[in-house]
Amino acid sequence: LCNLTEYACCIYCYNCKVARNQYERMGSDVTMQCGSLDNDASVSWKVNGTDVKAQHRLEGPRLVLNEVDLGHNGLYSCFQNPHGERRDTIYLHIGIPPRDPTVTCRSNTYPKGFYCSWHQLHPTYIPTTFEVDVQHNQRSLEVQKDPDHKNRCRVRFPEVFSSYPYKVNVTAVNALGKASTTISFEESSIVKPDPPERVTATPIRFNARRLEVSWQSPATWPDIDNFPLKYFLRYRPLIREQWQHVELSDSTSHTITDAYAGKEYIIQVAAKDTEIGTWSDWSVAVHATPWIEDPLPITSTTEVDFPTETKTSPIPSSNAPQKAEPPVGRAARLLTFFSPLLLGMLLLFMW
Ligand SMILES: *[C@@H]1O[C@H](CO)[C@@H](O)[C@H](O)[C@H]1NC(C)=O
Ligand SMILES: *[C@@H]1O[C@H](CO)[C@@H](O)[C@H](O)[C@H]1NC(C)=O
Repeated sequence: LCNLTEYACCIYCYNCKVARNQYERMGSDVTMQCGSLDNDASVSWKVNGTDVKAQHRLEGPRLVLNEVDLGHNGLYSCFQNPHGERRDTIYLHIGIPPRDPTVTCRSNTYPKGFYCSWHQLHPTYIPTTFEVDVQHNQRSLEVQKDPDHKNRCRVRFPEVFSSYPYKVNVTAVNALGKASTTISFEESSIVKPDPPERVTATPIRFNARRLEVSWQSPATWPDIDNFPLKYFLRYRPLIREQWQHVELSDSTSHTITDAYAGKEYIIQVAAKDTEIGTWSDWSVAVHATPWIEDPLPITSTTEVDFPTETKTSPIPSSNAPQKAEPPVGRAARLLTFFSPLLLGMLLLFMW
């Protein structure tokens, strides 16, 4: 059986003998000792089967490398002079001790449990493992590795509506050191559902300004009856930057009634527990265009004068008809200079 290190050994030394690993900090001076040979032994060294080209120093059975970097990684072998018998094989790994990992916890399966995930902002170049400890009300909770996600674990809520905070300690460990991050939170602050699913938007026949939007609650949310979700819908025509929003409690469909005729819309939905936590991410965007009369009269495709700004109340009423809004911008300023009579004539002319 050849593991990876042995395999490398097979290639470079033509001899399957397990190399020992030596881990060293990037930037340090490294000493490799050839087996347990005495100080007056004379040895020569090879790396990856060739002479050591990096700057180095020989001190009897020791090879000293200065200010190592990733280029010094490799399989080092030493041979005792004068017969050239191989005495040792060392796999040198250059790396960095871990720094405090970044940790976040979230419950998308409230009230069943939550998960915590972590990552390192800086690479360590050598294998780094993580230990996770979760405390609640002075008890250590069982932590399960997530089978689908690296750097993630799952925890069951030991009770619901608990006022005790949860304390999560993640420790990154490698051959060169360890570092921990501890975060503390209340149950209610980490609740964030997954986005709604199967969002569809369909035109309504004979209605040029409506779109029927429907969706399903996220499948991961375990108990929709006892822990209902509310929803937030946003939509805009592709050609505009500004979203319009509608908040809906307890409904998984909504009819947009103020769509611009003939314009393609982009629509997304988010979900939130009705009482606690934060909004989910937006669902995958769906596109839809309201029903268009067929055949398309050419005149209806000429530019519609969209207002360039809308009031930015966070949740504008869905049924505030856009057409009733006064035109904004240059056109509006221009119009105020005309008398009502002229205005009438102008409108007649325009239509
Ligand atoms: C030795 O080989 C490894 C693997 O191919 C390579 O990454 C490393 O840079 C080599 N080391 C030296 C000192 O040539
Ligand atoms: C986190 O866990 C590590 C490893 O078990 C431990 O050394 C460290 O003291 C813990 N930190 C806190 C704040 O509990």
